Amino acid sequence: MAGLGLATVAVATAAAAPPPAAVSCLECHPSHYASDGGCVDCHRGDARASRPALAHHRLLGGAAAAWGLPASPVLVRAVALRDSLGCRRCHVTGGKGERLAIDLDSVVWARTQAELRQALMHPAQAMPDFGLGATVADTLVAVLLRDGDRFGGASRYQVRFRAGSEDSLQAFAKLCGGCHQALTRDGRQGVGTAGPNLSGLLGPFYPAPPDSAWNPERLERWLRNPRAVRAGATMPPVALKPGELDAVLRSLAHPTPAAPAAPER
Ligand code: HEC
Ligand code: HEC
Ligand code: HEC
Ligand code: HEC
Repeated sequence: MAGLGLATVAVATAAAAPPPAAVSCLECHPSHYASDGGCVDCHRGDARASRPALAHHRLLGGAAAAWGLPASPVLVRAVALRDSLGCRRCHVTGGKGERLAIDLDSVVWARTQAELRQALMHPAQAMPDFGLGATVADTLVAVLLRDGDRFGGASRYQVRFRAGSEDSLQAFAKLCGGCHQALTRDGRQGVGTAGPNLSGLLGPFYPAPPDSAWNPERLERWLRNPRAVRAGATMPPVALKPGELDAVLRSLAHPTPAAPAAPER
């Protein structure tokens, strides 16, 4: 009799306030960073489930989980990588960047870690292959998550390429496209891999030291004789006919519209 009564009390208490063991993660893992949040705050997953496949639903592991630790050195490395690889020449992340490829802020939280790794390690379409390994990819993912819209915001823009402008397309393809590629307002251009991807060359996000950022005048000197600009440059000079430099410049011009795009429909 007394035993039954006690059990009833215990059930009632459990219903009112679940004990801490309700966080299934702690059945298998030690706790850490408790002052910075709960397990699923940083790692996602499902803390009600005890089977790993369910508990690890949409898990964020490895360096990617550092998104939730503001003072983490992983984030310092991630910012340096993002800027030296020039992700913002094509994407908006953290609210800044050219609008030549998908708005990362609006999608990063909707993706799994495996999908993000795949996108970074085996890039599709016009995204350059930076030869990233899984750890570096996860490091980049940490900063994309930190700066992204956690609650799945609407995209701030749709990627649209300009129709027409045949002259600039032909000039880039003929003069540069055998060695370079670029994503431009006219879409993807060039097929070459000998030289770097020139997307956003004349914009603020192209990875160049601030004292030698690319501008039309510097590009003209470079094309006339690369070694006059950088000793040891391996690109051969490019002979330009009148009008061709302008056409190439139009193609590579800083493409972000000044005002934010109006929401779609
Ligand atoms: C039944 C035991 C079990 C439960 C419950 C469980 N895990 Fe795990 N977890 C594991 C095992 C085993 C591994 C190592 C093998 C693997 O990756 O699956 C692991 C790996 C991990 C990793 C490292 C993965 C990586 O890629 O770096 C993280 C992070 C993690 N778990 C977080 C969680 C969180 C958060 C929860 C709760 C929402 C949780 N786990 C619940 C057993 C469990
Ligand atoms: C503030 C963010 C944060 C919170 C909260 C957090 N973690 Fe982590 N966790 C990380 C980071 C970042 C890593 C990567 C390694 C590191 O920095 O320690 C990690 C790594 C792990 C790993 C992999 C460990 C290894 O050695 O590979 C497991 C498992 C894990 N966490 C489980 C948990 C569990 C369980 C909880 C809840 C008690 C939790 N984490 C809470 C950020 C967090
Ligand atoms: C030359 C332009 C360019 C550069 C530079 C670039 N990307 Fe991309 N990226 C693309 C294109 C194009 C896609 C294809 C997806 C789309 O736009 O719809 C893409 C796709 C992605 C995706 C997948 C998006 C999704 O929908 O899941 C991620 C994540 C991503 N890029 C991250 C990065 C990061 C991080 C960097 C810097 C290391 C970077 N990108 C540099 C052009 C670029
Ligand atoms: C025969 C191949 C070739 C052609 C054609 C070519 N390039 Fe290059 N380009 C390269 C190589 C290789 C590099 C790397 C040079 C180096 O840094 O030593 C380069 C580098 C550059 C750079 C420097 C980028 C940086 O980040 O430092 C710019 C700018 C550039 N090219 C613009 C152009 C333009 C514009 C055209 C067309 C008008 C063009 N190139 C045609 C091979 C070529």
